[in-house]
Amino acid sequence: MDKIVIEGGAPLKGEIKISGAKNSAIKLMVLPLLTDQPVELTNMPNLRDTRSMAGLLRHLGVTVEEGPGPRMFMHAPKLASTEAPYDLVRKMRATFNVLGPLLAREHKAKVSLPGGCAIGARPVDLHLKALEAMGAKIELIEGYVVATAKGGLKGADITFPFISVGATEHAILAAVLAKGETTLNNAAREPEIIDLANALNAMGARITGAGRSEIQIVGVKSLDGVSHSVVPDRIEAGTYALAAATAGGSVRLVNVRSDHLGSLWPLIAQAGAKVTMDETSVLIERNPKTRLKPVDVETQAYPGFPTDLQAQFMAMCCLADGVSIIRENIFENRFMHCPELARMGADIKVTGREAIVRGVKQLRAAPVMATDLRASASLIAAGLAAQGTTHISRVYHLDRGFEHIEVKLGNCGANIRREKE
Ligand code: EPZ
Repeated sequence: MDKIVIEGGAPLKGEIKISGAKNSAIKLMVLPLLTDQPVELTNMPNLRDTRSMAGLLRHLGVTVEEGPGPRMFMHAPKLASTEAPYDLVRKMRATFNVLGPLLAREHKAKVSLPGGCAIGARPVDLHLKALEAMGAKIELIEGYVVATAKGGLKGADITFPFISVGATEHAILAAVLAKGETTLNNAAREPEIIDLANALNAMGARITGAGRSEIQIVGVKSLDGVSHSVVPDRIEAGTYALAAATAGGSVRLVNVRSDHLGSLWPLIAQAGAKVTMDETSVLIERNPKTRLKPVDVETQAYPGFPTDLQAQFMAMCCLADGVSIIRENIFENRFMHCPELARMGADIKVTGREAIVRGVKQLRAAPVMATDLRASASLIAAGLAAQGTTHISRVYHLDRGFEHIEVKLGNCGANIRREKE
């Protein structure tokens, strides 16, 4: 297993090209299940999660070719199976989203329940209720969702009791080939949902309102192929922006959609970094000799502050001159990075969904353990700013969602390397 080793203390200086969004790419990868025509994705990140999804797609009978470069070609004139086994679903929850497309195309599917994960229980009840509203008959048998839709799915009026990114996407994927019109109320508004709707509309789907709370989908009989460029990864961009603010220096992010991080930039500025941006690039500058300022934040569904940046934001607050209060509203157990940051000298007290972070002057290197994808990134930011050599183990979490992180940071002058444990 690999670990990341960081000699801290060097400010970052350079340019980082942001990759395509993991959380869009893995949803877009199910599109070949909805058409017998080819699907090409460009600006495609090459990650453990995209490879996990590719493994499941191949099992279902989709031809998947990766490359050259950031490109993926997929084609499924016919499907070989409508069953997604536990072994392939447990590696990554988003694979569960093949259920709707399989039901839409083949009118039947058997997909393993994904189970919980480190950041919380993460049930899929909203996904299943949406599919049932569209006429699917669903049974839970030995850990599997066994679903049928005799005669195909039908349009429905669905109101989500709370906002769910995955359930919104899943309902869209199921509704595009359903008979009649579907309305989704209290839908998630994330940029990744707009990206999915844009790709589907380019295939001939009729989706309006993506990016707003009410989405309408008029079902069509069939969908064409598509060539679609994956939206830039706002979480990767936010992660490097926060790393630059934490370690200090000057980092330009390119291939970004700066408007997708509207909730982050004012907070980074409040912490004491200078943020200069245009539509597709953002420059973060901070003098490492000055202290950061404390900032309170709470996570919300988009356009609020993303839960996927909470851990990285906390690493920055650990070095502020004062107290920051960080509230996690989306996942019930997303503070596992706190004890690891504490090993590096951070002063954090967690009570329920709130963390009180009392900034310290200096973090000190320590052996730490990555507990989930975004937590790993927060430990990297802390390691870059800390005094001494930080060893971060269990970096397979990191490889799920960050492409070449040590190369991208290394190009900005960070002393960071990957080693065998
Ligand atoms: C997506 O997860 C992202 N994953 C997450 O990113 C992200 O943190 C999350 O959205 C919130 O932005 C992908 O896109 C692959 P939700 P998702 O459904 O869709 C509860 C990362 O690090 N809920 O919006 O699973 C749920 O437990 C990952 O890249 C139900 O109760 O999130 C959570 O508390 C981590 N029942 C809340 O809703 C359901 O049926 C929001 O979850 C569905 C969700």
